[in-house]
Amino acid sequence: MIKARVPAENPEANLGDYNKRYQSFNWKDIEEQFTWHTTGRINIAHEAVDRWAMDPERKERKALIFEKGDTVAIFTYLQLKEKSAQWANLLVRFGFETGDRLFVFLPPCPEIYFALLACARIGALFCPVYATSTFDEVSVRISDAVPRGILTHPDLVEMLPTDIQDNTEFIFLTEGPLPNLLANEILVGGIPQQMPTEFCNIWLRPRSPLYLSYTSGSTGPPKGVVHAHDDMVGILSTAREVLDLREDTVLWVDADPAWVTGIVYGVLAPWLCGATALVQGDPFEAANWYWTLEKHSVSVWYTTPRTLTRLKEAGGNLASRYDMSHLRHMATVGAPLVPDIFYWVKQHLGRSPHDTYWMTETGMICLANFPSMDIKPGAMGRPVPGVEVAILDEDGEPMPPLSLGELAIRAGWPAMMVGLWLDEDRYRAYFNEKGWFLTGDIAIMDDEGYYFHQGRNDDLIKAGGHKVIGPYEIEQILCMHPAVSEAAVISKGSEPDEGVSYLKAFITIHKGFTPSIRLNHEIKAFVKASLSSDIIVKELSFLERLPKTRSGKLLRRVLRAGELGLPAGETANMEE
Ligand code: WT7
Repeated sequence: MIKARVPAENPEANLGDYNKRYQSFNWKDIEEQFTWHTTGRINIAHEAVDRWAMDPERKERKALIFEKGDTVAIFTYLQLKEKSAQWANLLVRFGFETGDRLFVFLPPCPEIYFALLACARIGALFCPVYATSTFDEVSVRISDAVPRGILTHPDLVEMLPTDIQDNTEFIFLTEGPLPNLLANEILVGGIPQQMPTEFCNIWLRPRSPLYLSYTSGSTGPPKGVVHAHDDMVGILSTAREVLDLREDTVLWVDADPAWVTGIVYGVLAPWLCGATALVQGDPFEAANWYWTLEKHSVSVWYTTPRTLTRLKEAGGNLASRYDMSHLRHMATVGAPLVPDIFYWVKQHLGRSPHDTYWMTETGMICLANFPSMDIKPGAMGRPVPGVEVAILDEDGEPMPPLSLGELAIRAGWPAMMVGLWLDEDRYRAYFNEKGWFLTGDIAIMDDEGYYFHQGRNDDLIKAGGHKVIGPYEIEQILCMHPAVSEAAVISKGSEPDEGVSYLKAFITIHKGFTPSIRLNHEIKAFVKASLSSDIIVKELSFLERLPKTRSGKLLRRVLRAGELGLPAGETANMEE
């Protein structure tokens, strides 16, 4: 664990004194900021968009800036209210009702956000699917959630199963010409413009479903995680305290809209704060990323370690050519923010990236490095106010600081998923009998309450039968060798009698180094010098790149499966 400490970047930020805030925090105070606090009837479209659109002071503010290629489309809060009301009227015209599912299978485009709000207005479930999904991924999800309609693009229609019309009534296409591959294709085109710009929102109970997001577990089919309208309590609170959003913020979340991050923090969080959401629809390109920060005067940027790694690969010189003076806060999520990347960003972008941790299932950030708190590079930060976190042993009991165990969250925080789509058993399996939600992540908490990620549950390495270690620390040691860029470590079995555990390491190397038998031995000797004698990196392979998910998560199980000649499991979120 890294002991280094980087002083707080902005001691004046929203949260202020962490300990004080954590102790005095009460979710009721956040709930009181919403109108449903008194009525008991809720709709996130009202709180996120309509109340600003009905306010003469705020209705002309930019709610959404969408950029792709040479075009920039800007929508004020009033325009967003009207557009999404037209889309809600369209869905009702086609028979949509509360509880129906709408699949949204599109590359980034403004229609995704109109559809999201339209679903919210009528209490339908918005179900985003990656535009880069394979045929199988799409069809597994469709047959599980059985949507009434699918909103897609003509280029993607051939990815839909041909027997779809048995259950799905409408294939809505954002533009023409119709491919005429399926019986029920409907060109949306200009229909919304003919619809009324007013819509009477359906008032719902707080835990009514809002969206359904599929996440691929390491075993079994993907899980359909269902989230509710009152997630807004946790989203608003973390938007302010973790991302430091204010009304004048331009927030850029460079996550795919099919990933929860792109929906929850990409648009819902800034809209609940009355701020501006920026969506960049182009694929990653380093110069364009810096240019986006400059051109739109981005003030808060929520990104991933993967993106920062790619910026590092493009070199520090490129970063220095852009004006990022408006950028006052940056945060990351999805995978460990390794110290190497942290320091590179600090040096070349002039500010600290703040790591945050959450899951599709948690619906909101649960651990964070707050702008007003010192950062320990490599740590995911501390629990957000209102959320209780612990490290549990194998019996589900909280452990003292500096113990390796499973990261758990006290059930009942506001944005917790309401269920798994049609899978009560798998839902219940997330919780232990003492009321903890089990994340499946392995972590250590230090004596100041900072959490360090150590890998996933199924990545654990057993040393000599009794000791259990996380792969992450060994990977960090590998990365300290000058030739090693990235590393992944898996277990290759142990010798219980001798008390030793054998590991295999997979690495990628920096430009300027060449794989060789000699380098292979050298790296193994380097690691040996830093590890206890019962943990031995026996084999080492050079790879072009490590298997990762689209959001940059290392897939050790794919490497394990490859070693053992087994199927790799759900690879739905694998990087293209
Ligand atoms: C898994 C959740 C991540 C945004 C919400 C969707 C990993 C997440 C971190 C971090 C190390 C992280 C965990 C978690 N993860 N944040 N800061 N450091 N690992 O997330 O796609 O459901 O993935 O992402 O393993 O369980 P998701």
